[in-house]
Amino acid sequence: MIKKWWHDKVAYQIYPKSFCDSNGDGIGDIRGIISKLDYLQDLGVDIIWLSPCYSSPLADQGYDISDYYNIDPRFGTMEDMEHLIKEAKKRNMYILMDLVVNHCSDEHEWFKKACEDPDGKYGKFFYLRDKDGDKLPTNWRSCFGGPVWEDLPGTNKQYLHIFHKKQPDLNWENPELREEVYKNINWWLDKGLGGFRIDAIINIKKALPFRDYTPDREDGLCNIGEMLKDAKGIGEFLGEMRDRTFKKYDAFSVGEVFNEKPEEIPDFIGENGYFSSMFDFNEASFGQSIKGCYDAKQITPDDYKNCCFEAQKKIGNIGFLSNIIENHDEPRGVSHYIPQGDCCPESKKMLAALNFMLRGIPFIYQGQELGMENIEFTSIEQVDDISTLDEYQVALNAGLSPEDALKAVAKFSRDNARTPMQWSDTLHAGFTTGTPWLNVNPNYTRINAAAQQNDPDSVRSFYKKLIALRKNPDYKETIVYGSLEPVWREQHNLMAYYRTGDKTLLVIGNYQREYQKITLPTPYKKILINNYADLAEENNAITLHGYQVVILEM
Ligand code: GLC
Ligand code: CA
Repeated sequence: MIKKWWHDKVAYQIYPKSFCDSNGDGIGDIRGIISKLDYLQDLGVDIIWLSPCYSSPLADQGYDISDYYNIDPRFGTMEDMEHLIKEAKKRNMYILMDLVVNHCSDEHEWFKKACEDPDGKYGKFFYLRDKDGDKLPTNWRSCFGGPVWEDLPGTNKQYLHIFHKKQPDLNWENPELREEVYKNINWWLDKGLGGFRIDAIINIKKALPFRDYTPDREDGLCNIGEMLKDAKGIGEFLGEMRDRTFKKYDAFSVGEVFNEKPEEIPDFIGENGYFSSMFDFNEASFGQSIKGCYDAKQITPDDYKNCCFEAQKKIGNIGFLSNIIENHDEPRGVSHYIPQGDCCPESKKMLAALNFMLRGIPFIYQGQELGMENIEFTSIEQVDDISTLDEYQVALNAGLSPEDALKAVAKFSRDNARTPMQWSDTLHAGFTTGTPWLNVNPNYTRINAAAQQNDPDSVRSFYKKLIALRKNPDYKETIVYGSLEPVWREQHNLMAYYRTGDKTLLVIGNYQREYQKITLPTPYKKILINNYADLAEENNAITLHGYQVVILEM
């Protein structure tokens, strides 16, 4: 395998709106990010992915871009962005921006021009269809609810939006549109970006000609996944994009790829793949229901283990997955993957180590390193996220009471991850001096960066140790490039695996509150990581405390 600069890196995702507010308007901004670069460097982060901070009406919190060449004034200026790239470079860090090109905003000038002249150049940048009375062109459901079709203002046409109606899909079949996208990517890479995280990229290829699929809810619509499964030939777009942009810059690209087929993996992330890496969503997608998230199945420790191992097996050494515990679209990982009632510093550290030592590139989402948890919603009024609001409606339509509907969707709400970063125990967790745009989790007095930074036993210090281990010259080769082999796979509530390279490491996590005994095949040489002060052993057997995790050199 040809070594690439990103293989041994540790990445960190920032959700700019909720990270750090420098001017007291309640909204996080780029200057706030700059002020925290030393914090990130101290943790050991190399790559920072910024969720979108381009000009945007923020209908989907920036994933609806109205100008790809500008920074939204709420986040700062282009000078701030250039300053951030420079300051990151000084610290040997790379900045990734979010590439959102499946759709733009309905306030982008392309869309405005399409409304003015739907048959002209910009009409062809979108998917437009003539209106036919009440009959929709297709019965596809948008990801945020309702049909994907909306009237094109001032015309007798409709446009397609896979996400919100303020996010019209761009027509990738049109070479002129593709040129515009590549031009923009290169413009940003010329500014010194390290690369991009690539949003919703699987959606750019539509199954043509358009047709209906079997409805799966009473609304008569079908999940958009049905159409996507049917779409062939996305590789032509992705290969062209790689060759025209990322490749020339040796840029890092990580795709938000769902439902890839096993035979496509080499094309996606193999040698000369479309992307440098793609996220592993196998754990996050577990238990999803076509009916809506109110019907989702709770993941158990054994499910979690199996999901991780399945994903690892599927990729093998073809390429590198990007491993996550959470992101801005998911609930907090510690609330989601640790059985209810058991969320504590030990279990958070266990989850961290089990995920971090998988083969691939670790991505930490802001606050994850502190063990930030889901927020408790007491009313739907407290919810901001458009997806959660839709899921709430879906749950009500399915007959749930308002209380039950709120409870069901709160567990999965994207707002859980979007509450402001908890910097300290001062007002609004030190995120802002003004009024935060979204409520701060009241547990900030207990869980915050200031309290954890100098505490050697904190969750953050544990993350720091994991990062340091990954960078330790003695173990780096094995952790980055070594193979992964599950062990004791059938043992209930135990997740364990070998990482084998020039060293042999054994990662063992006791995924339950009761203790658990394991007989080691050979004596270990050294304990590299332990989330408890001791390790109980007798002959070749070790007894792990509840949620104890150890990394042993064998
Ligand atoms: C991706 C983003 C998500 C956004 C959607 C539409 O899934 O991660 O936040 O809502 O794409 O852009
Ligand atoms: Ca601000």
